[in-house]
Amino acid sequence: MSKSILAAVQMAPRDPILGVTEAFVADQNPNKVNLGVGVYCDDNGKVPLLECVRRAERERVEAGPPHSYLPIDGLQSYDRAVMELVFGAEAAKSGRIVTIQALGGTGGLKIGADFLRRVEPAAQVWISEPSWENHRALFENAGFTVNSYPYYHAKTRGLDFEGMLGALEAMPAGSIVVLHACCHNPTGVDLSRRQWQQVLEAVKRRGLVPFLDLAYQGFGDGIDADGYAVRLFAESYSPIFVSSSFSKSFSLYGERVGAFSLLAGDADEAARALSQIKRLVRTNYSNPPTHGGQIVATVLATPELRALWEQELAGMRDRIKAMRKALVEKIHARAPGADFSFILDQRGMFSYSGLTKAQVERLRAEYSVYAIDTGRICVAALNSKNIDYAAEAIAKVISK
Ligand code: LMR
Repeated sequence: MSKSILAAVQMAPRDPILGVTEAFVADQNPNKVNLGVGVYCDDNGKVPLLECVRRAERERVEAGPPHSYLPIDGLQSYDRAVMELVFGAEAAKSGRIVTIQALGGTGGLKIGADFLRRVEPAAQVWISEPSWENHRALFENAGFTVNSYPYYHAKTRGLDFEGMLGALEAMPAGSIVVLHACCHNPTGVDLSRRQWQQVLEAVKRRGLVPFLDLAYQGFGDGIDADGYAVRLFAESYSPIFVSSSFSKSFSLYGERVGAFSLLAGDADEAARALSQIKRLVRTNYSNPPTHGGQIVATVLATPELRALWEQELAGMRDRIKAMRKALVEKIHARAPGADFSFILDQRGMFSYSGLTKAQVERLRAEYSVYAIDTGRICVAALNSKNIDYAAEAIAKVISK
C-alpha cells in the first residue's frame, strides 16, 4: 500500500486561548473558573443574551424570513451601521470608506490581511509586544513576515510609549502596523489621546499602513470614546484598515458578527478596492451568514432598541470595572504585600496580571482556575460567586 499523504502531518500545538477552554470544559472540579478566553459572563457566570438582541431576534423569527443568500459584502444596512459606529456618522458620508460584513473580528482581520498581501506583498507586519495570540499567526498565515514593536513595560505594568514610538519611527515606509484601537488585548493598557496623536504623527512621517483592531468598542469608556483612535486617524490619513466585532459588545460570539473597513484616498480608490475585497470573500466563504448581522442592523437602526443596547453595554462595562475593584481589594486582603492596583488602570475585558507561567500552571493544577500562560486573565468572567475563590487561589500562588 502506498504511504498516506497524511503520514507526515504533524500534530499542531494547542491554541493558546481556545485550548484553555478545552481543558476547562474537561475539568470536573465544581469550583472551576475560566479566566482564559475573552468572553463576558454575567453575575451568574452565564454568557448573557442581551434584551435588545432577544427582541430583535424574536421579531425576525416571527417574520419568518426566507434563508436566501446575502450579497458578497454582507447586509447593506449592517455595513452602513458599522461604518457609522466605527468612523462616526459624518465621516461615513465621505464615500471613501468601504465596510463589509465579516466573520467576527478575526474574519475582518483575515480579509484585510489577504487584501494587503495582494497590494503590498513586500511589506512586513508589526504587532505589539505582547499582542493578541492570534495576530501573529493570522498575518503569517496570510504570507507576511511578522515583527513586533515594544508596548508593555513589565516593571511599571504600564505602557512602554517611548519604546513604541521609537520602533514606529524606525520602521521602513509602507510597513503595516497593527494597533489595538482600545482595550488592548492582552494587557488592558491603552494609549492616552495625546499618545494616539503622537502615534498618528509617526505613522504619517514614516508613511506606515495602520491596521486598527477594534474588537471591544464600548467595553472601555464608551462607544465614541473607544472609537477615538480610528476617528482621529480617519480625519487626516489614508489608507486606514479596521477590523471590528460585535462578539463582545452584543454578546453574539457564536454568530460571528464582525466587519472589515477600509478608508481609501477617494471614492474611486474605495470602489476599486471593494471590488477586489469582494473577490477575496467570494473565493473564501462566498458570503456571510444572515442572522447575527440582521440582529445588529435592526438594533442599531431602531431607536428604542439602540438605546436599550447602549444601556446594556454600559451595564457590562460597569460590571467589569466593579470586578476589577473587587479583585484588587480581595487579593490585597489575602496577600497584603501584593499590590495589584494596576488592574484598576487597565481597560476592557483583560488584565495582564503579572502572574508567571509557573503560577498560572499552579492555578490550573491546584485550584482549577484557568488563565492564559502569559498571565492574562479575563476580568469579565469574574462574578460575585467566583471572585473570592479566584482571589484566594491567586493570593495562594503568589505567596509561595
Ligand atoms: C480572546 O482573546 O480571548 C478572544 O478574542 C477570543 C479569541 O478568539 O481568541
